[in-house]
Amino acid sequence: MSERVNLIALKGIPKIKPGDNLANIIIDSVSKSNIILEEGDILVIAQSIVSKSRGFLVDLNKIEPSDYANMLHESMKPLATKENIPIKDPQIIQLILNESNEVIRASHVMIVETKHGFVCANAGIDRSNVEGDNMVTLLPENPDEEATKIKDDLKNLVHKNIAVIISDSFGRPFRRGAIGVAIGLSGIDAVLDKRGKYDLYGKELKSTIIGQVDNLASAAQLIMGEADEGFPIVLIKGYEFEINNQAKISSIIRERNSDLFREKKSDIDVIKTLKARRSYKLGFSSKEVDEELIRECIDLSRWAPSAHNGQFWRYIILSKGAKRNQLINRMNEKLKKDLINEGKSESTIKLKIEKTRNQFLNSPYLILLCLDKHDLELHEGDERNLNELFMGIQSISSSATYLLLALESKKLSSCWYCAPLFAKKIIRRELNLPESYIPMAFFTVGYPLDVPKAPFRKNLDDILFKIED
Ligand SMILES: Cc1cc2nc3c(=O)[nH]c(=O)nc-3n(C[C@H](O)[C@H](O)[C@H](O)COP(=O)(O)O)c2cc1C
Repeated sequence: MSERVNLIALKGIPKIKPGDNLANIIIDSVSKSNIILEEGDILVIAQSIVSKSRGFLVDLNKIEPSDYANMLHESMKPLATKENIPIKDPQIIQLILNESNEVIRASHVMIVETKHGFVCANAGIDRSNVEGDNMVTLLPENPDEEATKIKDDLKNLVHKNIAVIISDSFGRPFRRGAIGVAIGLSGIDAVLDKRGKYDLYGKELKSTIIGQVDNLASAAQLIMGEADEGFPIVLIKGYEFEINNQAKISSIIRERNSDLFREKKSDIDVIKTLKARRSYKLGFSSKEVDEELIRECIDLSRWAPSAHNGQFWRYIILSKGAKRNQLINRMNEKLKKDLINEGKSESTIKLKIEKTRNQFLNSPYLILLCLDKHDLELHEGDERNLNELFMGIQSISSSATYLLLALESKKLSSCWYCAPLFAKKIIRRELNLPESYIPMAFFTVGYPLDVPKAPFRKNLDDILFKIED
């Protein structure tokens, strides 16, 4: 256990540019300050200069925001104004999304899980201490690799084992104020496992694990500063630790299934799914779709509401192949006949048929939704029966909506097509379906190749009305 630890901010570190070698810069600084690097020293280096030296810089003007980024911008704007913090523009939101595995919260700031697995605000993307109004730094792609490169360069230069920690400052969920945390390391374990050791009274420690690299990063931050203090590298002497060249920062990240702090599913996921779902009418990727995923989504669509809890929906999965091709050909023959009878021109007919034909033939899965009229509660009287049929249709539509959202949540794209309505008999015959099945809709399903544009939506005021006394 160390009795005294010294923290020394390295002086004379220049403004870092892409391509700069940080080990050379460190050696230059220590030799000018008459500091001797010793075995077991630790260097804490601010992420911003590591990112700059390695060119992890992005010009926000070159980022094209997606619909989702624009949607988040609109929903975060009033919350940022309320909190009196700058409003994030869609470009930076898009960049945060690009750098993240998951958005955990999007309120006045975005809390995300970065590609590395760190949970932090704005994916660690930083505007401060970067030249140019629209330039930002990203976290290094592999911070451990960056730390190892600096450690190895130093070893070649001074022949000493010096551990390297790359630090950033993160806010914390339950306490105000950002503190230094380690985002990358080399030569030092992320945590100090005290389990099996004894406390003052001889009791065995059962669960004590110290976040030693975060403690060191936080201590270094005391003299590193945040703004323009300009001490991005801190040398720590006297901290006792075991050198471990296999150490990895990932060992400090809580595993999801034992992370009690993180909510399993947040509202934002629901909102995201609702808004991100699009009718996908573009080409599908060749990435194979696991049929189990389709089954899971249809399983979820069983939870939709239905009149009298009638659950009139019946789903039929049509995988690619001769059966599906024959069905589509028969349907197209009928469509052609119908359109000729309607007096449509040959070119219109060709266009109309081809528009959907390829989607039906080529989508990795095609799902047919039928209404089983066997389950309808039919009563005496035409109007009553018609309304029961409407209820059945409304019910299967709600199930279909569940299906589309479930597919979206699995990152599968789909589109609802009404073509089966126009070929009920043919479908029943070709697929050998019971007479009571009314074919209602097709859903194409697959992984997308492209991002469809969001279609026009009426304003809330155009569709919502209030009747008052
Ligand atoms: C009942 C129903 C039938 C539809 N039929 C077709 C269709 O036959 N062909 C087609 O291209 N899109 C069809 N769509 C998809 C709509 O064009 C699409 O939902 C709409 O343009 C809004 O786009 P969005 O789903 O991306 O928000 C259908 C959608 C519904 C709900």
